[in-house]
Amino acid sequence: MTNVVVVGSQWGDEGKGKIVDWLSERADVVARFQGGHNAGHTLVIDGKTYKLSLLPSGVVRPEKLSIIGNGVVIDPWALLDEIERLRKDGVTVDPERLVIAENAALILPLHSNLDRVREEARGNAKIGTTGRGIGPAYEDKVGRRAIRVCDLADRDILQDKLRHLLFHHNAILRGLGETEIEADTLLADLVKIAPRILPFMGAAWRVLDKARLDGRRILFEGAQGAMLDIDHGTYPYVTSSNTVAGQAGSGSGYPLRGLGYVLGITKAYTTRVGSGPFPTELENATGVLLGERGREFGTVTGRRRRCGWFDAVLVKQAIKVGGIDGIALTKLDVLDGFETIDICTGYEILGEKFDYLPAAMTMQAAAKPIYETMEGWEQSTEGARSWAELPATAIKYIRRIEELIEAPVTLLSTSPERDDTIMVRDPFAS
Ligand code: GDP
Ligand code: IMO
Ligand code: MG
Repeated sequence: MTNVVVVGSQWGDEGKGKIVDWLSERADVVARFQGGHNAGHTLVIDGKTYKLSLLPSGVVRPEKLSIIGNGVVIDPWALLDEIERLRKDGVTVDPERLVIAENAALILPLHSNLDRVREEARGNAKIGTTGRGIGPAYEDKVGRRAIRVCDLADRDILQDKLRHLLFHHNAILRGLGETEIEADTLLADLVKIAPRILPFMGAAWRVLDKARLDGRRILFEGAQGAMLDIDHGTYPYVTSSNTVAGQAGSGSGYPLRGLGYVLGITKAYTTRVGSGPFPTELENATGVLLGERGREFGTVTGRRRRCGWFDAVLVKQAIKVGGIDGIALTKLDVLDGFETIDICTGYEILGEKFDYLPAAMTMQAAAKPIYETMEGWEQSTEGARSWAELPATAIKYIRRIEELIEAPVTLLSTSPERDDTIMVRDPFAS
């Protein structure tokens, strides 16, 4: 019996939520290990849509345990809003079913403010963040001045830590000509919200350890994608956490050797929200068509996602640096009806050929895709639930992707609906 780690292999929005929800039927526990409410994971179950940001995608199944691990940055107000929103959708989230790591760092209103102020200051060079305060919150965590979930239980500690935190932040705000933050107001807000958060708090690593000893299956749910990873992504146009599978261990307190199968969720084409290099981006009618067919609008910010052909070079890089064992290929149905489909197999950068994306910003910005053109298919693959329903040319496309990225397609998704999923092999049994 093995666990499964689900990660994104592109720039996020690959369909992780759908696949985690589908796989969670076979798991007992679903744990988030990085990111925060910058994530937007969409689940469609019998025609009903659920949008999750901070809560693990297993939360819609009443019998599963959800964990928010220490590697996640938590905005307590956003968390309570999300729980409330789900309650209206008929999903109950109580402390029996959700454990929040006591050692996770909090996102405070000052973080989202700073995120927005900095983005404005960057002008044309802006990252295009979600404005949720993710970057500033991780900075405070690494800077050893973050307020953590456990601090909410002790007013004196909270007061003391806020003093340190504001010493730092008010200096920045003064420099930017912005209004400084009153420690007392923030303290009062945190003291007020604490009784609603603390019932969920626990030693998440111990809960996971017990699950391990009891032989229970754990599904680790990543957010964002490998190309948004703080180390391996298209820096500085990235998020502020490690998004690759290794983070599942340190971001939850689970032994690395027990993580199990690493499933990279991979869209059959490519999208990106926000700024930054995107070699296969199609700024033409085909790009617009992909966006329309794939309904490529951000779950969190509603922004239009940039669209382009499948980039096998990037996905292969994500597989190598992230230790991905196999992929779940999603949104194949969006490619239905294209006469031809291009796959990027290499780059030309400043007159030289590359079979990987080098790290330098200027090289990334200059990367021109080298394409291989495949024949498309007329027939609809939407909602296909078996391999036999797929047109031969679609299978050829899948096989070529497997060859180029050097990893097998383990799952195939053919619509947003939970059950429109084809299992080639069971990742829990691999
Ligand atoms: P995540 O962030 O990786 O969880 O992905 P998002 O939920 O942000 O974006 C993926 C979008 O594609 C959502 O609207 C899903 O409902 C939808 N989706 C997932 N799988 C498929 C698929 O196989 N086909 C189609 N057409 N849509 C899909
Ligand atoms: P899911 O989990 C797509 C992008 C933002 C921006 C960059 C930095 O739904 O796949 P941040 O707010 O994290 O500091 O923004 O990262 N980004 C995402 N793009 N999907 C996501 O999450 C993302 N989370 C962050 O658009 O370019
Ligand atoms: Mg998303």
